[in-house]
Amino acid sequence: MKAAVLCELGKPPRFAEFSDPAAGAGEAIVRVLAASLKPIDRQLAAGTHYASPRALPVVCGTDGVGQLADGTRIFFGGPRRPYGAMAEQTVVPAGFCFSVPEGLDDARAAALPNPGVSALLSLNSRARVAKGETVLILGATGITGTLAVQIAKLLGAGRVVAAGRNPEALERLPELGADATIQLDQPEEELKKAFTREGGDGGFHVIIDYVWGRPTEVLLAAITRSEFAAVNPEIRLLQVGESAGPAISLHAAVLRSTALTILGTAGMPAPEVLVAAMHQVLAWGAAGTIRIETEQVRLSDIEQAWQRTERQRLVLIP
Ligand SMILES: NC(=O)c1ccc[n+]([C@@H]2O[C@H](COP(=O)([O-])OP(=O)(O)OC[C@H]3O[C@@H](n4cnc5c(N)ncnc54)[C@H](OP(=O)(O)O)[C@@H]3O)[C@@H](O)[C@H]2O)c1
Repeated sequence: MKAAVLCELGKPPRFAEFSDPAAGAGEAIVRVLAASLKPIDRQLAAGTHYASPRALPVVCGTDGVGQLADGTRIFFGGPRRPYGAMAEQTVVPAGFCFSVPEGLDDARAAALPNPGVSALLSLNSRARVAKGETVLILGATGITGTLAVQIAKLLGAGRVVAAGRNPEALERLPELGADATIQLDQPEEELKKAFTREGGDGGFHVIIDYVWGRPTEVLLAAITRSEFAAVNPEIRLLQVGESAGPAISLHAAVLRSTALTILGTAGMPAPEVLVAAMHQVLAWGAAGTIRIETEQVRLSDIEQAWQRTERQRLVLIP
């Protein structure tokens, strides 16, 4: 079969021949219809992700949409290495196949679950956002952050503040539910003031952080108190991505002067939690309740697609 084959960490995969997969116990063979190209695919192939492959060659791609032998159209995840989603066929755990509702085309069905489920679980399972709370999305101009803005509103957040760099993308966020926007790439003193202003008197209850690095350091400086005072309600900062940097310098003062709790996404969720979130996101997608922009690219063009930086999610079609 043809596939996006990675032979060396740090290099783009190539469109090449790869052996056909065979199913073991509890596995299913999928004829792939569409597979999205996400930051995690690039991080895994670059060798910078904790789960980057130790043995090569492998086929790239962590999830996609395809057909089972009986013709059912499904979203699948977790291909068994060395197989991957960016191929004509793959092999996945039978339990990681979810039927795709009508009304959701292959490209959107392939693109939506990873960022949508991540955003939903980040907000409800991990950060436990409650109705009426103020939520800050750091990196709201990205694909996952844009979905987090929409889903935070659906979950009943009282005020959603969206922070990002790209002015055009930032401008579109109010129509998706953002109550205010913050330009991340402004001078740091101004950015600090913007975080303070948009947090309002009650401050942020939940922060979903897709950027980390310097913007997060400026945010933490903004919420650090400079006087002895009764502490505000808990601030739950959820670390999800590292688009601006893999590390921050964490000053003790922010932890001692506020009720800040820093959480991580904590690996894979429990199966029943994942299944419920997957069905919810696919249903919202099919109903048009949440939106994602996609662009379809031929799998044979994988090398060029790998180097692109478009704002819409690229979806590879075998
Ligand atoms: N753990 C999980 O479950 C999970 C799931 C999905 C995503 N993620 C992670 O979350 C991050 C974002 O994913 P995505 O799908 O939204 O990616 P994306 O569409 O490429 O968006 C990247 C976001 O990061 C911002 N950004 C990039 N470089 C930056 C910098 N130097 N300084 C400040 N902001 C910067 C971008 O801002 P502009 O576009 O405005 O420049 C944009 O908001 C990635 O690290 C990804 O791996 C994790």
